[in-house]
Amino acid sequence: MRVVTIIPTYNERQSLPLTLDRLRAAVPDSDVLVVDDNSPDGTGAVADRIAAKDPAVHVLHRHGKDGLGAAYIAGFRWALERGYDVLVEMDADGSHQPEQLPALIDAVARAHLVIGSRWVPGGSVVNWPLHRKLLSRAGSLYSRTMLGLTVRDITAGYRAFRRETLESIDLATVDSVGYGFQVDMTFRVAKCGLRIVEVPITFVEREYGDSKMSGNIVFEAIANVTRWGIAARWSVLAGHLSGRP
Ligand code: GDD
Ligand code: MN
Repeated sequence: MRVVTIIPTYNERQSLPLTLDRLRAAVPDSDVLVVDDNSPDGTGAVADRIAAKDPAVHVLHRHGKDGLGAAYIAGFRWALERGYDVLVEMDADGSHQPEQLPALIDAVARAHLVIGSRWVPGGSVVNWPLHRKLLSRAGSLYSRTMLGLTVRDITAGYRAFRRETLESIDLATVDSVGYGFQVDMTFRVAKCGLRIVEVPITFVEREYGDSKMSGNIVFEAIANVTRWGIAARWSVLAGHLSGRP
């Protein structure tokens, strides 16, 4: 089973080398793809230097900050073209502990998508301010209710996909820009009738650099979830109506 861990970066010069060291030690069998959006702080060059010394580490350079969703889609395409069986998503800032990755990879043997979850028993968040905890829980609750899903941590960014899972989704139609991308992917996988499993993780707030979370990202996610939820209800209703004699 060939595994690749995809790490999107924007201004993660200090965090990235620490995360890569930990990842290579914890899961030496996983290759790595860093997807950098031309970070002004030089993260791309830092990644290139590490890749030059470690043949398992690869770097995809993109032209500018184009959002988490676009970075992951580019990373997925790169990895699918190269025949990887399992594609992992991981933040660069240490919030997703590489030491917990084996649990996700184990679980992907019996699931199409594994989510490293903060909001299942055994999961937790360390050092997050109250407003981020509330935002994350409320975001998951709203998305779950609107989209009829049972996943507890729908916006989570620590994930393992089987390649077949991504092959059954039309990646060209995924246009979520911010962290709503994670909700989008969860909803699409669920709509395909595929199996989603959550494993508990301990999410640790970053020590270096800044979060890229913004009002626009929250707004996009709420607007999309609302739109998708209404569209799903509408199509059920329309089906009932047209089914009448
Ligand atoms: N290439 C690229 N382009 N990378 C990006 C971009 C972008 O536009 N925006 C963010 N990233 C990278 C960051 O550099 C980091 O490695 C990762 O994506 C997560 O970004 P953070 O800014 O650290 O996210 P967070 O800690 O606020 O949010 C966490 O919670 C979200 C909501 O649950 C993360 O776990 C997210 O993945 C999650 O969706
Ligand atoms: Mn973070």
